[in-house]
Amino acid sequence: MPDRALITGGAGFIGNHIARLLLGKGWDVICYDDLSVGKEEYIPDGARLITGDIRDETRLTDAMKGCRHVYHLAARVSIRKAVDTFIDDAEVNSQGTLIAFRAAENAGVERFQYASSMAVYGTVEYSPQDESHPINPTSPYGIAKYASERYIIAMGEHWNIEPVITRYFNTYGPRQTPSPYVGVITIFCNKLFAAETPKIFGDGEQVRDFIHVKDIARGSVMALETAPAGSVVNLGTGVGTSVNEVADLLVDKINPEIKPEHVPPVPGEPGDSIADASLAGELIGWKAEKVLEKDISDAIDWNRAQFDKI
Ligand SMILES: NC(=O)c1ccc[n+]([C@@H]2O[C@H](COP(=O)([O-])OP(=O)(O)OC[C@H]3O[C@@H](n4cnc5c(N)ncnc54)[C@H](O)[C@@H]3O)[C@@H](O)[C@H]2O)c1
Repeated sequence: MPDRALITGGAGFIGNHIARLLLGKGWDVICYDDLSVGKEEYIPDGARLITGDIRDETRLTDAMKGCRHVYHLAARVSIRKAVDTFIDDAEVNSQGTLIAFRAAENAGVERFQYASSMAVYGTVEYSPQDESHPINPTSPYGIAKYASERYIIAMGEHWNIEPVITRYFNTYGPRQTPSPYVGVITIFCNKLFAAETPKIFGDGEQVRDFIHVKDIARGSVMALETAPAGSVVNLGTGVGTSVNEVADLLVDKINPEIKPEHVPPVPGEPGDSIADASLAGELIGWKAEKVLEKDISDAIDWNRAQFDKI
């Protein structure tokens, strides 16, 4: 019988790429998702969808029975929106994560990957940021992610399950559900297809580490399969690109007539963030392979195809 993995949030952007990768490696894959954002059509052939909320512990525990590995990605992912909806977000992102971890322990799962975020670092004291960078999250989202990391590592010491934490940087690529809050590349693509003006918050000089979703999926699987229990690793490219540069790249490729507009910055967003991902290299032999200028094209093509369907 093949090994079985369950991915919470498996109908979402990153989750469905992890599902595809695992299927390719011969795993039996279950995607557990409430479809609040993710879509059934993103689930690859061969994977099974179980719809449910991660806070439904009985349903989640039953779904995890017989699984060796769990990838926990289900979350409310908008840093910006969480500033207004932080109690609700904490219920899913913190409490929901604890429920998912306990469900995995009770179901007899061996290893549990938690999709954390560069948002845990918050205020930037130096860049690139390694995993020892001070933790000072400036957003409720980052606080909930960090609290969950600590709970998981602490409880993992007492339980018979091995947690591994991956801190993702800004992820782009195909099958990110368009939303006004999440994913600057997806947002800009859709604005430019509609011949509307993309909005840049602040002066646009804020630097992000844009990493392709396939690199994130590969890093998540490598981390869960090989990192020592309790590891915390950044997954980023180590290359910084300003929001202005991303906007210029997309305008150039999609609609050179349009000029983005600058609007006031929003509270709670992290400062410049570039990953130092050398620990992932040392621990799991992972390095990002994709390059933004070249590999942004599949995100553009996918978003264009979705836009053309409407
Ligand atoms: N995309 C990024 O740039 C990025 C960066 C850092 C960390 N992350 C983390 O990676 C993970 C995946 O993010 P994504 O970009 O794929 O987002 P996404 O919104 O596409 O995926 C999250 C999935 O979780 C599901 N979900 C939400 N609440 C749920 C609940 N209560 N019960 C069951 N399912 C629920 C949604 O329907 C969705 O399919 C998240 O934990 C996110 O915080 C993402």
